[in-house]
Amino acid sequence: MAFDFDTPTNRLKTDSIRWDSFDSKEVLPLWVADMDFKSPPCVIEALSDRVNQGIYGYTHSPHQMNAMIADYLYEQYQWKVDPEWIVILPSVVSGLYTTVQQLTESDESVLIPNPIYHHLRLACTSANRPFQEMPLELKDGRWVLPVNELSNLITNKTVLALFCNPQNPGSTVFTREELKEFGNFCLENNLWICSDEIHAGLVLDSNKKHIPLASISKDISEKTITLMSLNKTFNFPGIGLAWAVAENPVLRKAIQVGLHQTIAPPSLLAYTATMAAIKEGEPWRKELIAYLRSNRDLIYSKINSIDGLSIGNMEGSYLAWINCTKLNHPDPYQLFLDAGLATSPGSQFGQQKFIRLNFGTQKARLTQALNIIESCAKF
Ligand SMILES: Cc1ncc(COP(=O)(O)O)c(C=O)c1O
Repeated sequence: MAFDFDTPTNRLKTDSIRWDSFDSKEVLPLWVADMDFKSPPCVIEALSDRVNQGIYGYTHSPHQMNAMIADYLYEQYQWKVDPEWIVILPSVVSGLYTTVQQLTESDESVLIPNPIYHHLRLACTSANRPFQEMPLELKDGRWVLPVNELSNLITNKTVLALFCNPQNPGSTVFTREELKEFGNFCLENNLWICSDEIHAGLVLDSNKKHIPLASISKDISEKTITLMSLNKTFNFPGIGLAWAVAENPVLRKAIQVGLHQTIAPPSLLAYTATMAAIKEGEPWRKELIAYLRSNRDLIYSKINSIDGLSIGNMEGSYLAWINCTKLNHPDPYQLFLDAGLATSPGSQFGQQKFIRLNFGTQKARLTQALNIIESCAKF
């Protein structure tokens, strides 16, 4: 391997949310979704050069930025996007909140998956919009949407569906057929769609690929805001930059409400990091995927050997969604925390009896975490 993912990094006392939120050095924190790996050397070098310039004035998005993103989307996903459809945002989360706020009236409601990354739900509650949950079901080891049951959830006030692919926390990489079925369901019910695809660069299965929902058909594209970012893949979420793709000018206008006013633009370093990752990050990303895949395989073999725990296929990202229902413990999150392992509680995503384990870390740390889980499961 040309890049080092194995040497432990020390993130204590860096104000890291993941590492510095627990008082005790005894807690291994595998929760919030960032990784314990340094960003690719190309990103670090580009940032160093920019920092060494010493002047950090107001900076607009580089003129070539949208075209670079459009080329990247074509290279990675064979998705043809006009650079004009792209709106640069500071973060995916701000895009989620703006979308819900702008695409729904106060008496209109939103469909969201369950389980789901909590900000999709919070975007609805903070805008005071009712939402209905689309429960994912485990089918052949994959968390999928039972699309033929979704019409029961729709009322004439349902106007927007939020979607997440690859799925967080379930880690499903949806197939073309599944996307087509869901997209067409939204078209038939005249729903806007907001598709959070922040984990797109982290598909682990070599026989799977990320397919943007909006790339399925022009009709779906006209109804969809796609939110993407390289923050997750190249591990610089603390610098942060995202983009929305919206073919429909109505949606493009909606996603820009508040931008440069109540919503600050990305910092100048975010443009630098993102462009460096686009230009030169691919060899690093490929090795990252291989490393995460071997971490994932470690999790499969350990978790499947523990009575009371189970896990679905982990097709994308570095988040393991572990089912602890059969442990018969009232609070699995607390059980593991008391033993020195911080995971994300399943309740954050809508499922109390699950935990989410971040395996974007060195193998030695992951092994330590799995040993803690194993010893607790025998309580
Ligand atoms: C599905 C999903 N969307 C959005 C985010 C956060 O994105 P950002 O940091 O760009 O706001 C995360 C972070 O974990 C995520 O998992």
